[in-house]
Amino acid sequence: LIHPVLLCGGSGTRLWPLSRKSYPKQFVKLTGEESLYQASAQRLSGPGFSAPTIVTAADFRFIVIEQLAALEIAPADILIEPSAKNTAAAICAAAMALEARAPGALMLVAPSDHVIPDDARFREAVQAAAPAASAGQLVTFGIRPDRPETGYGWLELSTPTPDFGPVPQPLRSFVEKPDLAKAEALLAGGMHLWNAGIFLFSTTAILKAFATLAPEVLAASRAAVDAAEKDLGFTRLAPSPWSELPDISIDYAVMERAPNLTVVPYAGAWSDLGDWQAVWREAESDTTGTVMAGPATALDCQDTLLQATSEVQQLVGIGLKDIIAVAMPDAVLVAHKDRAQEVKQAVAALKAKA
Ligand code: GDD
Ligand code: MG
Repeated sequence: LIHPVLLCGGSGTRLWPLSRKSYPKQFVKLTGEESLYQASAQRLSGPGFSAPTIVTAADFRFIVIEQLAALEIAPADILIEPSAKNTAAAICAAAMALEARAPGALMLVAPSDHVIPDDARFREAVQAAAPAASAGQLVTFGIRPDRPETGYGWLELSTPTPDFGPVPQPLRSFVEKPDLAKAEALLAGGMHLWNAGIFLFSTTAILKAFATLAPEVLAASRAAVDAAEKDLGFTRLAPSPWSELPDISIDYAVMERAPNLTVVPYAGAWSDLGDWQAVWREAESDTTGTVMAGPATALDCQDTLLQATSEVQQLVGIGLKDIIAVAMPDAVLVAHKDRAQEVKQAVAALKAKA
């Protein structure tokens, strides 16, 4: 049995104004009927999977339950973080909570903001990874790269994978978020895959990795889990030990330095909807590369995203090129496509002004 652990504490600021502090992108019904969080929970349910553990912030505790209830999924546990301390702490705390319920269990850690359309194929890759995880490996999932992306981790294969089946192989090294020159070299070298940000390991193996590679994360998480308060199905992690935790991702804290890494290539479609450029890239565009979503109309536009929510009357673009325009009733974003990352700074600037 595989225990899903869904991380959904992120605030998704690069997708402002659609993603808000009080209602971040993973809970928004971006494209279909379901939010990305619901799609992730659904993907990791059914035969072979136990009820999910959710790790989130207090503000989102009711959204996470409501959206699961709509799918008729009952969570096994909902861990509430007193503050966001990044993924190392979230994963370590989840591993401890799970270890207490199911010693040695296999946990599949998944973000809740990815688009993975082929659920069946993805589950197949997860099952293919299970034996290695049971044997104590920390298993990553590798995506074939098609651009020198600096926002991802890169996984160094030991052998090229011409057929790209979901066959586990030892991972030679893990490079988190390289700079552009490095990413270009890794892409050209042909021996690297992108880290999908999804991990499979046993509670035993990951807790051991924390003990050797990040003992400060282990100690503070231990204290926060031991002193946690149970409250109506929520597990509220204890604030004072939690505040001692370093803000570090699992990628830097563990993956870059662990010796026992395995990669399972995943050839199906995968995307991290991290910013507006990714939304544009993933959406169905017309022959000019223009995407119109909601009540939006483009005249003579090229490589442009026009997205309006249904509460907006009309969004019209004329003669635009490489523009991202997002209209909401209370906020409008207009940006050059190459500057999509800077929405994060814009949100910080708005916050400072408020
Ligand atoms: N509960 C909780 N608490 N969740 C968190 C926290 C936290 O403090 N911080 C981040 N998350 C969640 C985010 O909501 C997201 O679902 C997931 O953890 C990953 O965090 P990101 O901040 O989106 O990471 P990233 O995209 O920069 O990088 C990771 O994912 C890439 C692929 O999408 C890394 O694992 C990269 O190596 C990887 O390529
Ligand atoms: Mg991400």
